[in-house]
Amino acid sequence: MCGIVGYIGHREAYPIIIKGLQRLEYRGYDSAGIALYDGSDIKLSKTKGKVVDLKDKLESEISTIGSLGIGHTRWATHGVPNDVNSHPHYSNSGDLVIIHNGIIENYDALKKELIKRGYVFKSDTDTEVLVNLIEDVKRNEDIKLGKAVQIALNQVVGAYAIAVFDKNKPNEIVVARLGSPLAIGIGEDEFFIASDASPFIEFTKNAIYLEDEEMAIVRRGKEVKIRKIKNDALVDPYVQELQLNLEQIEKGGYDHFMLKEIYEQPEAIKDTFRGRLLSKEAMVKLAGVEDNMKKFLAADRIIVVACGTSWHAGLVSEYIFEDLARIPVEVEYASEFRYRNPVITEKDIVIAISQSGETADTLAAIKLAKSRGAFVFGVCNVVGSSIARETDAGAYTHAGPEIGVASTKAFTTQITVLTLMALRLARAKGTISSSEFRHHLIELELIPDKVEEALKSDAFVQTISDIYKDATNFLYLGRGFNFPVALEGALKLKEISYIHAEGYPAAEMKHGPIALIDEQMPVVVIATKKGHYEKVVSNIQEIKSRKGKIIGIVTKGDKSVKELADHVIEVPETIECLTPLLTTIPLQLLSYHIAVMLGKNVDQPRNLAKSVTVE
Ligand code: M6R
Repeated sequence: MCGIVGYIGHREAYPIIIKGLQRLEYRGYDSAGIALYDGSDIKLSKTKGKVVDLKDKLESEISTIGSLGIGHTRWATHGVPNDVNSHPHYSNSGDLVIIHNGIIENYDALKKELIKRGYVFKSDTDTEVLVNLIEDVKRNEDIKLGKAVQIALNQVVGAYAIAVFDKNKPNEIVVARLGSPLAIGIGEDEFFIASDASPFIEFTKNAIYLEDEEMAIVRRGKEVKIRKIKNDALVDPYVQELQLNLEQIEKGGYDHFMLKEIYEQPEAIKDTFRGRLLSKEAMVKLAGVEDNMKKFLAADRIIVVACGTSWHAGLVSEYIFEDLARIPVEVEYASEFRYRNPVITEKDIVIAISQSGETADTLAAIKLAKSRGAFVFGVCNVVGSSIARETDAGAYTHAGPEIGVASTKAFTTQITVLTLMALRLARAKGTISSSEFRHHLIELELIPDKVEEALKSDAFVQTISDIYKDATNFLYLGRGFNFPVALEGALKLKEISYIHAEGYPAAEMKHGPIALIDEQMPVVVIATKKGHYEKVVSNIQEIKSRKGKIIGIVTKGDKSVKELADHVIEVPETIECLTPLLTTIPLQLLSYHIAVMLGKNVDQPRNLAKSVTVE
C-alpha cells in the first residue's frame, strides 16, 4: 500500500515525480524517495516523513536533472519507517534501482539464499530482496533486465507493482503487477508510470492499466511491450481514454480534501443516480442488475463483503434489501470471511463494496466466493480497479476521486447505489407496490437538495466541536437504519482525531456501555422522527439521568429531543430508509472540525492509508 511514480521521456522527470508523489500520498505517507538518472549515474534521495520532507532534503542533496526517474511514497509493511527502509532500493552492485508497492511473502527464504551467495542487505525490506534477486538472475544468466525481472518474479510469492531500471540501460523502465495497481500513461515520445492516473493527468489522457501477472518494458521513444509474467506470451496493449480531470484531484479552495468531499456529496449522489433513477418513467435502470436479473431473483440470500466504511454502507444495505426486497442479507468483514470456511452456494449473490476497488481483503473474499460458485457483484468507485475487474458484474458509484483518507462521499454514494439495487429488485419481486416504489424514487431524487440543507449545519457543528474537542471518549448511538451510521460516525472521529469512540445500537446501551456514562461523556444520538423515535427518546432519557452530554441528530422541527439534549443538530425529513444519507452529514462535519481544532492531519491521519492493498 504505497504510491509509485515513474517517468521516461523528453522532460525533466523530477517535477513530474515529486508532484505525482504528492497526489499519491493518500496511499501511504510515512517515507518517500526518488531515484533519477542524470545522464551518467543514478542520483537517489530518500527520507522518513512526507513528500514535502523529501522535497526539502532531495533538493539540498542531489541534482534534480534527468529525464528518467522513479519515486515512491511508502506505507510501511516490512521494516519501520526510516530513511534506510524507504524506497527506492539499490541492488548490491548499484546498477539497478527499484520501487515496489506490495509484499513479497517469501522474502525471508529468498534473502537467506542471497546472503549465502554473498549479498549484503542494508534495509529490513522485502523490496531490497527483490532487487537483488533480479540482479542475481541477470548476472548468472547474462540476460537483459526485462527477462531477469520475469524470471525473478516467477520465484516470488506475494503482491507487487514494481518499477525498476538499470543505469547501464537508461532508456527503459521495467514494470510489473500482481495484486497492486499500475497504470502507464502514454504521451508523445514519453511514458508515465503510476499507481493511478492522477500523477500524469495533465500530460496525457491515454493510459494502459496492467492486468495481474503482466509486465511491461517501457522504452524511450518506442511502443510499450506487455507480456505475461508466467508464460511470456505477448499481450495486445489496451489503451484507455481517461475520464479524470485535474480539477477533480485538487482541493479547489477547500482547506482539506475531506471537507471538499463532504461538500461534494449533493453532486456526487446526483452523479450516482444520473441515468439510473428515472422517476418520471417510474424506473430504475442498472445494467449490471438488469443483465443478471434471473440470478438476482433466484438468489436465496445476499452476502455483503467489505471493510471499514464500505462495510458500514453494507450494513445499511442489509436493512434496505430486507425491508424493500425481502431478501435475507448477511454482512461480512471481508478479512474474516476470507479465512473462514463460509457456507456459500451457487444460489448466493455476493456484493463486494469498495471505494478504491483495491482492498486486499475484499479482493480475497471475492476470489473465495467465486471459487465456490457464487455470483459476485461489485459496488466500486474507482473505474477499472481490481475489484471492478474481478467481479462478475457491478455498478460504479461515480463519486469522483476520493482523496481524503476518511471516506465520506464514498459512503453516501454506496448507499445510493445499494438503495437503487434494492428498489429495482423489490419492483421485480413485487415486494413493493408501484405507488410506494414511485414515492421512494421521488424521495431519493430529493436527497441531494436535502444533503445541501444538512450541510448548512456546518457552522453550528463547528461550535459544538469546540465544546467537545477535548473529550477523551465519545459514544455514538443509533437504531435501525441509523445504527450503521452510529458506527460510521465513531469510525470517522477515531481515524482523524484519534479520540476513542464507539458506535452502538441505542438499545444495547443498557447491556454494558451505559456504565461509561458520566458528565464527561459526550453521546451522539441519532434520533430522527421515523424509526423507533420514542424508543430512542427513552434511551436519551437514560443518558440524561446519568448526566451524559447529549448531542442529538434530529429531524427538522423536533421538539422532544430538544428538551432533553444539550444540543440538537437538525436534518431535513425523509423516508426512513434514506435517513442515513442525511444523518451522516453532521457526523462527518463533527469529526472534521474536531480533528482540525486538535491540529491533526485530517487528510492523512497517522498509521493509515487510503487503499489497504495488504492484509
Ligand atoms: O477502498 P475501500 O472502500 O475498500 O476501503 C475500505 C476501508 O479501508 C475504508 O473504508 C477505511 O475504513 C476508511 N479509511 C474509512 O474512512
